[in-house]
Amino acid sequence: MILYFSGTGNSRYCAEAFAYALQDEMTDCFSFLRQKESADLHSDRPWVFFAPTYAWQLPHLFRDFILNSTFSGNRDAYFVLTCGDDVGNAGVLLEKLCRKKNLHYRGILEVVMPENYIAMFNVPKPATQKKIIANAEPSIQNGIDCVRNNKDFPVYKATFVQKLKTHIVNPVFYATSVKAKDFYATDVCISCGKCANVCVCNNIRMENGRPVWGKNCTHCMACICRCPKEAIEYADKSKGKPRYVCPPRDKTEK
Ligand SMILES: Cc1cc2nc3c(=O)[nH]c(=O)nc-3n(C[C@H](O)[C@H](O)[C@H](O)COP(=O)(O)O)c2cc1C
Ligand code: SF4
Ligand code: SF4
Repeated sequence: MILYFSGTGNSRYCAEAFAYALQDEMTDCFSFLRQKESADLHSDRPWVFFAPTYAWQLPHLFRDFILNSTFSGNRDAYFVLTCGDDVGNAGVLLEKLCRKKNLHYRGILEVVMPENYIAMFNVPKPATQKKIIANAEPSIQNGIDCVRNNKDFPVYKATFVQKLKTHIVNPVFYATSVKAKDFYATDVCISCGKCANVCVCNNIRMENGRPVWGKNCTHCMACICRCPKEAIEYADKSKGKPRYVCPPRDKTEK
């Protein structure tokens, strides 16, 4: 079974490629995560998890969802992490997670896709986005072949610096940077409510036609990137920057 969490579409794009090529069932974990519910799932085929990389780890909310859910049937677990740059030493933590869940860790696949972290960085220009997505295809196909042929993903060796980022920077990042207080909507907001609907943390409520952010945010960037009017800003960090949402995968692609 293909299970995915995706803020701006990159991880969903890769999940679709696997689901189509392997003719496997695809589950969007959005509703489970939004409602803070665990899942009770069964699959006779390997589990293939897809998610963005957040500070060189699996997003904490997706990790907790896996920890709290039950997976019966097949014991193999593959992890595909999309990223703007690299996944750090995330694989070691995924291996530990699998041990806790009595799953057989089959490896981590890093797929470099366009950066979406508009609250911190620039996202690439549209032409560059297209190139990055096209360049991801060999990794995606390689991953599909591994699952199809019952092989582990290629071994991913993290450097010393990557280990530091995963194990030392990640907790500092969550404690200091993952906050919603700097989001606000400008006057071009049309009160459509989309930002509230796409928030995986159910952290946005509409008050007098305007979004109001609560304290429970995972910095997925869905609200700011998916607003149809580009009405959302993050302090002064996002002003003038293009937003990013991954286009849907062409269904004819293998
Ligand atoms: C909060 C946050 C943290 C991120 N941390 C990393 C990171 O550690 N390494 C990296 O290469 N990309 C990082 N990124 C970029 C995303 O992992 C990347 O763009 C991903 O493909 C987005 O997936 P999605 O569209 O499925 O949400 C981060 C993005 C966000 C929003
Ligand atoms: S998605 Fe944008 S336009 Fe719609 S309510 Fe939210 S801020 Fe306003
Ligand atoms: S408030 Fe925005 S960035 Fe934070 S979790 Fe919700 S959609 Fe994602």
